[in-house]
Amino acid sequence: SRTIKLAVIPGDGIGPEVIAEAVKVLDAVTANENVTFDKTHFALGAARFLETGDVLTAEDLAAIAAHDAILLGAVGGVPGDPRLRDANIERGLLLGLRFSLDHYVNLRPSILFPGVPSPLAAPGAVDFVVVREGTEGPYVGNGGAIRQGTAQEVANEVSVNTAFGVERVVRFAFGVAAGRPRKRLTLVHKTNVLVFAGSLWQRTVNAVAAEFPEVSVDYLHVDAATIFMVTKPSRFDVVVTDNLFGDILTDLAAAISGGIGLAASGNINPEGRFPSMFEPVHGSAPDIAGKQLADPTAAILSVALLLDHLGLADAAARVSAAVTTDIAGRNTSPDTASRSTAAVGDAIVTLLTSKGLQ
Ligand code: NAD
Ligand code: IPM
Ligand code: MN
Repeated sequence: SRTIKLAVIPGDGIGPEVIAEAVKVLDAVTANENVTFDKTHFALGAARFLETGDVLTAEDLAAIAAHDAILLGAVGGVPGDPRLRDANIERGLLLGLRFSLDHYVNLRPSILFPGVPSPLAAPGAVDFVVVREGTEGPYVGNGGAIRQGTAQEVANEVSVNTAFGVERVVRFAFGVAAGRPRKRLTLVHKTNVLVFAGSLWQRTVNAVAAEFPEVSVDYLHVDAATIFMVTKPSRFDVVVTDNLFGDILTDLAAAISGGIGLAASGNINPEGRFPSMFEPVHGSAPDIAGKQLADPTAAILSVALLLDHLGLADAAARVSAAVTTDIAGRNTSPDTASRSTAAVGDAIVTLLTSKGLQ
């Protein structure tokens, strides 16, 4: 029997609520499998910082890195909380993990499941995946301010794009496209303005395209991409883009495909040198935390991505099937009005069991 060491980081706000349901589903779907998830819980996040002053210590990082995979809920306190002003939990913890564990692929699928209301009048078929670069771009913290606090202040936040970093994520995205029926890759950037980074991304896509003749390639400026994501999302199959454009586009993608409560993601180190990390796209939602109002579906679908990544494709498909069935019977999205967080998790577990999906 295979043992998988799983680091679980529930985090802040609704994080622990949605992770409890995700773990329930993980346990149910693997109950009859020849696999055991050996889970270690890490109490990290804003709450831990307020208690101890630590965000992510070297010991935390080493301990987490010794696992096979990571499941994370959400981190971050109430925006504007003065006690967290200097902590920067999101940079220190979330980006700290993504950068330290070399999660250069941030995989964010968007599927409009049958029965899910979309805010778009005519969404058509929505089934695309954004491959967001995860370790470079404006996120690297390559910045500084001079004369801060004066009328002459200058604040720089320089986007870093390396040939190595762009090529590896672009190659991964082509691989994803080649494995999908439509085999279509769209580069999203802003090459008309960000000429140096844009040129590197475009030349890299052109070069790697030669290795994937079966994949058709096109390009959109990021502003135009937001138009098409609303007017004709069916045109997208695989999108490859930089860290910041990918962040913004995937919240939009979530909004058009049933809402942030359904959007799952994987932060992947494809070579497996470091554990990959799976998490809902949403944050800690302090406005609804502690009330059992959060939709755990995004966290549960993140478990499906985790299982897939670990080579447990059958179990992943069973989770997706149970979620799809559950979603088809809903009439709100995110599913907050009708059922508690735990009730949604329980319903999905029941579907897994009753349909023999376990
Ligand atoms: P958010 O995603 O937490 O919330 C945005 C809105 O969506 C809120 O109205 C919230 O109630 C709703 N929402 C989010 N998840 C939901 C769910 N599962 N079910 C139902 N409704 C849901 O974004 P925010 O308010 O900008 O950020 C709150 C905190 O979370 C901040 O500290 C932010 O930095 C952090 N954050 C963390 C992550 C992460 O850990 N991956 C991601 C985004 C934001
Ligand atoms: C996300 C979040 C993070 C990001 C923040 C909290 C650092 O918005 O996972 O999309 O910008 O990547
Ligand atoms: Mn985001």
